[in-house]
Amino acid sequence: MDQKRVAGEKSTEYIKNGMILGLGTGSTAYYMIKKVGELIKNGMEIKAVATSKSTESLARELKIPLLSIDEVDRIDLAIDGVDEIDNEFNAIKGGGGALFREKIVASLANEVIWIMDESKLVDGIGKFPLPVEILPYGYKHVIKELQDYSLNPKIRMKEEEIFVTDNGNYIVDLHIGTPMNINDVYNKVNRITGVIETGLFINMCNRIIIGTSSGTKIINNSNSKNVKMEQFR
Ligand code: 5RP
Repeated sequence: MDQKRVAGEKSTEYIKNGMILGLGTGSTAYYMIKKVGELIKNGMEIKAVATSKSTESLARELKIPLLSIDEVDRIDLAIDGVDEIDNEFNAIKGGGGALFREKIVASLANEVIWIMDESKLVDGIGKFPLPVEILPYGYKHVIKELQDYSLNPKIRMKEEEIFVTDNGNYIVDLHIGTPMNINDVYNKVNRITGVIETGLFINMCNRIIIGTSSGTKIINNSNSKNVKMEQFR
């Protein structure tokens, strides 16, 4: 059984008629988005905000009505993938380079669900390189500061060129390893001029859905920073 697929499809059971959804990015989110397309075909009324240009074009193909981030006040439910997550719901996201849009969508959402295969749940995050979105202007100086903090930055490349995000910026991947001092990294990196956002998502989800060989495992997070609204309960 494809773990990403079962997790992605299971998450759509939390979608209710009339919701504004945040659509994540990546190979797990792909299955969720396909299923959202089916729900719409079957008459459900949903609108969505995409977290990347690739998700936007898939959503258009599937005739999912889209809203821009500035057209919404809140998002009812955001569903997205994750690169690594620990037992306290600290996560690394941005493997696909969409971390900034993913974070703004998650922070506007009344409920956040992360979907994944079993490999994403780890004892401590940091093995997966932590993506940081930075401005192109002065990027070498940002890298130098990250080096000075011994955070092992590597500019992300796409073939021979520097990878450019949907926002026109660069990504630096920090090869930190475990154990990672999350608060220390967060505080250091966010203070650097030129850093736009990090892929550290600290306790931002309400629920995780893990695809397993026999189905799905769901873990609820009652201490999430995201507060639910009553409307869709
Ligand atoms: C993209 C992301 C993805 O959610 C993350 O990389 C997980 O991807 P996948 O589901 O393909 O393993 O953060 O920026």
